[in-house]
Amino acid sequence: MAFRSVPISFITVLLLFFFPVSRSIPFIVLHGIGDQCSNQGVKQFTENLSSFSGSKGYCIEVGDGTWDSWFKPLEEQTEIVCEKVKKMKELSEGYNIVGLSQGNLIGRGVVEFCEGGPPVKNFVSLGGPHAGTASVPLCGSGIFCIIANNLIKAEVYSDYVQDHLAPSGYLKFPNDIPKYLEKCKFLPKLNNELPDKRNSTYKERFSCLQNLVLIMFKDDKVLIPKETAWFGYYPDGAFSPVLPPQKTKLYTEDWIGLKTLDDAGRVHFISVAGGHLKISKADMKKHIIPYLKDQASVRVIESRKTKGPNEEEGSTELVFDGSSSYVWPSSVKSFFVELLEVSRG
Ligand SMILES: *[C@@H]1O[C@H](CO)[C@@H](O)[C@H](O)[C@H]1NC(C)=O
Ligand SMILES: *[C@@H]1O[C@H](CO)[C@@H](O)[C@H](O)[C@H]1NC(C)=O
Repeated sequence: MAFRSVPISFITVLLLFFFPVSRSIPFIVLHGIGDQCSNQGVKQFTENLSSFSGSKGYCIEVGDGTWDSWFKPLEEQTEIVCEKVKKMKELSEGYNIVGLSQGNLIGRGVVEFCEGGPPVKNFVSLGGPHAGTASVPLCGSGIFCIIANNLIKAEVYSDYVQDHLAPSGYLKFPNDIPKYLEKCKFLPKLNNELPDKRNSTYKERFSCLQNLVLIMFKDDKVLIPKETAWFGYYPDGAFSPVLPPQKTKLYTEDWIGLKTLDDAGRVHFISVAGGHLKISKADMKKHIIPYLKDQASVRVIESRKTKGPNEEEGSTELVFDGSSSYVWPSSVKSFFVELLEVSRG
């Protein structure tokens, strides 16, 4: 017996070596505005995703993090991430993207624009301003924010602000759509909104995603409207009502393949409790982790899901709290004031 069992286990080991049972796909994390990979919050978030899924995760930085996330135009940020993912051997067989807020637009830019990049399989979006936002991100009710918000509203579509303020690439004021379409340099291209410039390559690439998970936060006060996380938005010309994604032209005319993906059952519209990017452990396990595991285990989880909610993972403990980055560093504030003075002068 001993004589026979040795070669059998040897063969098993050999087989496992050459044909691993589950080869999990790595993922990257793209953080939001005002944040950076070295910050404790994003670092832990990435580590938690890794340990819960068993997949390798990498937070991809643009420049120095916080500063560049505010002031480098999104097209440039996208190019930087594109070059980085192309150089990472770990991703060459394909990878998943987890986007936080503004990071989702960079991620989508990589999917649509990155020439010769490795294939993106699953895209998990937390609080992404996919259809634009009608307010400066992270600006609450403070007096500085009110001033900044008003100044930016007046100047946002100037070339100067477009070239020096990242969020101007997706600020979309419904009462100023012609100007937005003409002058805004990032989102109209990303969303194939310009009738004479629609590029079917972007649509083809986006339609290749295996899963698109769109997580909206029920009490999101940063994204205006919060439904933009699902590609919902205001109609052109008015601040109400908020159109559900399926009622927008981007969807009905399928400019980027959102409808194609949805018809194929690959879009998951998720709504979770909490403010912007405040994700609980339970929601992370339920809505993100399955897409970061290898496909075999995803199927297991999908079939389990139909039997009802998973009680055992019902922890509401936060594993990420985007509010840490609500604080504007004073260097950012003063640069802001300068920026607005230059753009007006
Ligand atoms: C998340 O990761 C951090 C750092 O690795 C760890 O201390 C923490 O316990 C993890 N959170 C959960 C809910 O496992
Ligand atoms: C569409 O985008 C692709 C990829 O970036 C590019 O090669 C192509 O020239 C573009 N087509 C048009 C019509 O602009």
